Amino acid sequence: MSLQKPTTRLMAPHIAALKGVRPIVALTSYHAHTAAIADKYCDFLLVGDSLGMVMHGYETTVPVPLELMIMHGKAVVRGARQALVVIDMPFGTYEESPSIAFRNAARVMKETDCGAIKLEGGRRTAETIRYLVDRGIPVMSHIGLTPQSINVLGGWKTQGRTRDEWAAIEEDARLVAEAGAFAVVLEAIAEPLAERITAAIPIPTIGIGASAACDGQILVMEDMLGLSPRVPKFVKEFGRIGAAIEGAIKSYSEEVRARRFPERAHTYTMKDADDPAPATADASKHPKKAKSPSTR
Ligand code: KIV
Repeated sequence: MSLQKPTTRLMAPHIAALKGVRPIVALTSYHAHTAAIADKYCDFLLVGDSLGMVMHGYETTVPVPLELMIMHGKAVVRGARQALVVIDMPFGTYEESPSIAFRNAARVMKETDCGAIKLEGGRRTAETIRYLVDRGIPVMSHIGLTPQSINVLGGWKTQGRTRDEWAAIEEDARLVAEAGAFAVVLEAIAEPLAERITAAIPIPTIGIGASAACDGQILVMEDMLGLSPRVPKFVKEFGRIGAAIEGAIKSYSEEVRARRFPERAHTYTMKDADDPAPATADASKHPKKAKSPSTR
């Protein structure tokens, strides 16, 4: 087979091979420009279904449609050059049967050109994970707090805080690894349990609220940038982008109202200094000039 261009993107096996070598760095990403920035520093970018809450104002991830994942997935794949792009399968697109999961996951891969998909759930998804991996679709798993099951869980609850919860979560981790997942996200899991799972399974654990014991870390980009109005305890705000955006918009509105913006530097002048300004606003009396190629 002849390749059109060399493949430079990381793939699922490259991420799996990082276990025990160095910490894996990941962020969620929903649009091309921030993907291009994060791409320089991350091993993988996740187009998470949290985009429904972060970008589209849904209260949970449950209503997110597949089309939205594909639309944002395409943007992130266009923005990123080296990181693996993983796209979340939203609620209702993979639970019914392995073959329906395959049809939807294959659509995501073909339409976006991403390198892997992610499914929420432990043992109940093991058969589907095996079915997808056997047919060429790399799968990242997601256990612990699984936001698509929020209506069953009864809220955003930390998992594994009492020992009687441990066995079921450890079993989930073991079964998704055995089924062929190349990595597993551990969300909102108490540290000692995250540590046990990380030591017990051969694939990388990617923590979000699951302590430094995990093989890698992921955060929702808007949360760590300081753009989200409320963030969970496990988020560290590495930036204050929300305050910066508000400051810029406030200055803009003040300058427009005071007629200080736009200034001469932001204003187009006539090429021909003798070209008289139109006496009236009647555009029909002033045939259009050829458009300048540079209007930026
Ligand atoms: O959708 C998402 O942002 C996620 C992360 C919490 C891992 O799945």
